[in-house]
Amino acid sequence: MIELAIIGGTGLTSLEDLKITNREIIHTPYGEPSGPLVYGELCGKNIVFLPRHGPGHVIPPHKINYRANIWALNDVGAKKILAINAVGGIREDMQPGRLVFPDQIVDYTWSRGSTYFEEGLTNVTHIDFSYPYCEELRQSLLEAVRACGLEGIDGGTYATTQGPRLETAAEVNRLESDGCDLVGMTGMPEAALARELELCYACCAVVANMAAGRGEGEITMEEIEANVLTGMDDVRVLLHKLLEKDLCKD
Ligand code: HPA
Repeated sequence: MIELAIIGGTGLTSLEDLKITNREIIHTPYGEPSGPLVYGELCGKNIVFLPRHGPGHVIPPHKINYRANIWALNDVGAKKILAINAVGGIREDMQPGRLVFPDQIVDYTWSRGSTYFEEGLTNVTHIDFSYPYCEELRQSLLEAVRACGLEGIDGGTYATTQGPRLETAAEVNRLESDGCDLVGMTGMPEAALARELELCYACCAVVANMAAGRGEGEITMEEIEANVLTGMDDVRVLLHKLLEKDLCKD
């Protein structure tokens, strides 16, 4: 039984301490996922890992086959998905390196395959998405983060932008006035697709930079990479705690 599926984002294309047992290429009705699913043991628990941007980190956010990724994880029996996403911080306390566990989403993406409910329907289907994340898993993550002595931020609205370019300062002002606290490019349609398949899905966002116009000067890839690297060390600690404490068990 798979205890947890982990979708790794920028900075987490592999889990070094995962005892890999198998790799599997899954074909879905929506095409190919970002890469083979990687099965293994972490802290004695069976998990499956999928790097969202592909094993070599080569698929940009708007080209990711979100439908195939979520379909594949569901297909192999995953019930809970932890999504790791690098983001920019809009709210002042969302400083680089911080972990944030958002509880809301505003979707600004377009032209991405964003639903399973569009063809061959017997009925038009609208999922409830009032609260887009699985609260049970979100609470488990918060408990694990506290148990690690890390400072995680509970809640926040994740603006998902199309990318791959970063935002303008004016766009970030608009996101803020829309009520958004953090901004990234990969939060949607992933979360909605998981809900369509009735999977428990939560996000651990790693702040890579202050959003455009909120920090000093330009945002550089070097800055993003350096902050994501340190943030991902905390994510690894968090994952251990989550699995050790059986926090993602039903
Ligand atoms: N904006 C959008 N996506 C991001 C950012 C950002 O500032 N940083 C990391 N991913």
